[in-house]
Amino acid sequence: MKVAVVGRGNVGGGLADLWEKAGHEVTRIGSDGGDVSDAEAVLMAVPGGAIEDAFQTVRGLEGKMVIDATNVIGAQPPGGSPSNVEFVKSKTGGPTAKSFNINFAALYDRIADATSSPANLWCGDDEAREIVEQLNRDAGYEPVYAGGLENAAAQESFIGLIFGVVQGGMGPFFYRMAPPDQL
Ligand SMILES: NC(=O)c1ccc[n+]([C@@H]2O[C@H](COP(=O)([O-])OP(=O)(O)OC[C@H]3O[C@@H](n4cnc5c(N)ncnc54)[C@H](OP(=O)(O)O)[C@@H]3O)[C@@H](O)[C@H]2O)c1
Repeated sequence: MKVAVVGRGNVGGGLADLWEKAGHEVTRIGSDGGDVSDAEAVLMAVPGGAIEDAFQTVRGLEGKMVIDATNVIGAQPPGGSPSNVEFVKSKTGGPTAKSFNINFAALYDRIADATSSPANLWCGDDEAREIVEQLNRDAGYEPVYAGGLENAAAQESFIGLIFGVVQGGMGPFFYRMAPPDQL
C-alpha cells in the first residue's frame, strides 16, 4: 500500500519503519510540507497543536483515508472541534480513524518481542476499518475497535489517564519495556 506519514518524528518515522518492513511504500513528510495525492492512506503524526498548520503545508489531503495519531497536549482542537481527528475529517471528508495515539513510540522496536500482539485502540468510520486494521497488524498490533468518531475525544483525552498511571506507581510496568526517559 502507498502510505504517507505527515510528521516523521517518533511516531511517524517509527511507524514508517515498521510499515516499510511489512512491504508498504511510505513517503515521509515534515514541517517543510509535501504532497499526499498518491497515498492510499495518510497518517497524521504532527504535534497536536500543529494539526491545522499541517493543512497549510500538506497538499492532496482532500477525500483521503486518514489515520490521526495526534494527542492534544497543552492545546485545544482547532475550530471548536471536539477532537483533532474530527477537525481532520471536517477538512478531508474522507474515511477517518483515530489510532496509534495511546501506545508509546519508544516501544515500537519491542513490539515484535511481545508474547502476544499488544492491543491498539482505534475509533472512526466503518469505511476506514480495513486499512486502519491492516496497518495496525502490519505494525505488530492487534487492533481494538472503540466505536465511531464520536468517541475520538475520549480516545484523545485517554492519554492523560495513561500519563497518570505511569506517574502514579505503575511506571515499573512500563519501565520493564522501556527506560522512563524514553516514554
Ligand atoms: N511520542 C509518542 O510516544 C507518541 C505516542 C502516541 C501519540 N503521539 C502523538 O503523535 C504526534 C507526534 O509525536 P512525535 O513524538 O512523533 O513528535 P516529534 O518526534 O516531535 O515529530 C513531529 C513531526 O511533526 C512534523 N511537523 C510539525 N509541524 C508540521 C506541519 N505543520 N506540517 C507537517 N509536519 C509537521 C515535524 O517536522 P520536522 O521533521 O520537519 O521537524 C516532525 O517530523 C503528537 O501529536 C504526539 O502527541 C506521540
